[in-house]
Amino acid sequence: MGVSMQDIVSLAKRRGFIFPSSEIYGGLANTWDYGPLGVELKNNIKQEWWRRFVQKRQDVMGIDAALLMNPKVWKASGHLKNFADALVECKNCHIRYRADSLTKDGDRFVCTECNSRDFTLAKNFNLMLKTFLGSAEDASNTVYFRPETAQAMFVDFKNVMDTMHPRVPFGLAQVGKVFRNEITPGNFIFRTREFEQMEIEYFVREKDWEEYFEHWLEEMKLWLKDLGVSEKKLHYVDIPDGERAHYSKRTVDIEYEYPFGQEELYGLAYRGDFDLQNHMRESKVDCTYTNPEDPKDKFVPHVIEPTWGVDRSVLVAMLEAYHEEQAPTAAARKGEPRPEGREEGESAKRVVMKFPAWLAPVKVAILPLSKKPELVKVAKPLYEKLSEKFVCEYDETQSIGKRYRRQDEIGTPFAVTVDFETLEKDDVTLRDRDTMKQERVKIKDVEKTIEKKLHA
Ligand code: GAP
Repeated sequence: MGVSMQDIVSLAKRRGFIFPSSEIYGGLANTWDYGPLGVELKNNIKQEWWRRFVQKRQDVMGIDAALLMNPKVWKASGHLKNFADALVECKNCHIRYRADSLTKDGDRFVCTECNSRDFTLAKNFNLMLKTFLGSAEDASNTVYFRPETAQAMFVDFKNVMDTMHPRVPFGLAQVGKVFRNEITPGNFIFRTREFEQMEIEYFVREKDWEEYFEHWLEEMKLWLKDLGVSEKKLHYVDIPDGERAHYSKRTVDIEYEYPFGQEELYGLAYRGDFDLQNHMRESKVDCTYTNPEDPKDKFVPHVIEPTWGVDRSVLVAMLEAYHEEQAPTAAARKGEPRPEGREEGESAKRVVMKFPAWLAPVKVAILPLSKKPELVKVAKPLYEKLSEKFVCEYDETQSIGKRYRRQDEIGTPFAVTVDFETLEKDDVTLRDRDTMKQERVKIKDVEKTIEKKLHA
């Protein structure tokens, strides 16, 4: 049996990754809060993405724009007119559905709430979330929370050109929150109304777009490999004419086999010069690129847009990392203490999150075998020393077996145990999360041994 959404939702809550938002007030449907471990996991994804695609590359620069933009941006981008889903309502129970997600019974659509087959005609529902700036709630003060980070990269294009003088091809990147008034949010953090994106608008000469489309597709594949996603669960779907977003000339959706079905994970689009041309028309500001080496070489660049959802990255990383194993018997554990509450030789289920080491929220757990002061006296300073280098956790409560199980469930790659032998030999045990094998390592060598293993 594969991992279910319930497995992930319950581990996420139980272990401090993701909680229902405002839960003490009964929650707010389909909104989620990242807890102490969830925020580490999410930050690891965002930081690695930034390092890889912005800092390590000569041809990509980052920006961090405001969430609220001049409403004319959304007129120019086409979002006011086109960023809509077809919505239908069940005439009997008034539940609203996205028309393309209705369930069929034979050849008729059926309401999954009340079984009625009677729906209103589809009408367009704009997905942008509206608010008002200032004290008057009227049309002149209406603004929209951005539904994609992309537009700021187009709107800031001229400022970047004038200050940084980049050469085409180059990209602008951004990570940040976006909002969409989704008709049917659901499936945990898969579809929410507030989420984060990591996007790049990569500006190219029109003739080169296919080359860079392939380049970014390859980069996205490599990223997925490093995130620990198995190739066999991924599907690359070329979206046909008529089904693409209003701005796109070619789109490849990267889809993943979630427990609830095959759905989009990331996307790659060729936006042509749609956005820059529209912003030039609406703002009357010239956004033509001039080649710094040849002032006669002027053109409006075309755009390749690879886009990654942060929350879907977290979800897929958790689905892929989740493993249930039969914990081996004490004999097979070779010295690992027997988990509390289990008889010798009895096997039990072990849940282990096998995150790639770079992704794990905590890298090292420091565990004195018991709360005895002589063990704590060695373990605490070791924790402080290792914390300078890695994200560490110190834990002296409960039995050592239970503490190992907890670290397995949060995906900590290494556990360092301080035991009575430590006091005589100045060494500790270093336990590997996946193999559960333990080796003794001199205290003075612990840091460099872990460092080596983390980068193996
Ligand atoms: N700028 C292009 C753009 O916004 P999109 O396919 O609408 O394209 C990009 O969104 C990515 O954002 C998706 O591939 C997905 O990872 C993520 N995403 C979209 N809608 C989402 C939602 N309601 N909840 C969580 N993530 C979402």
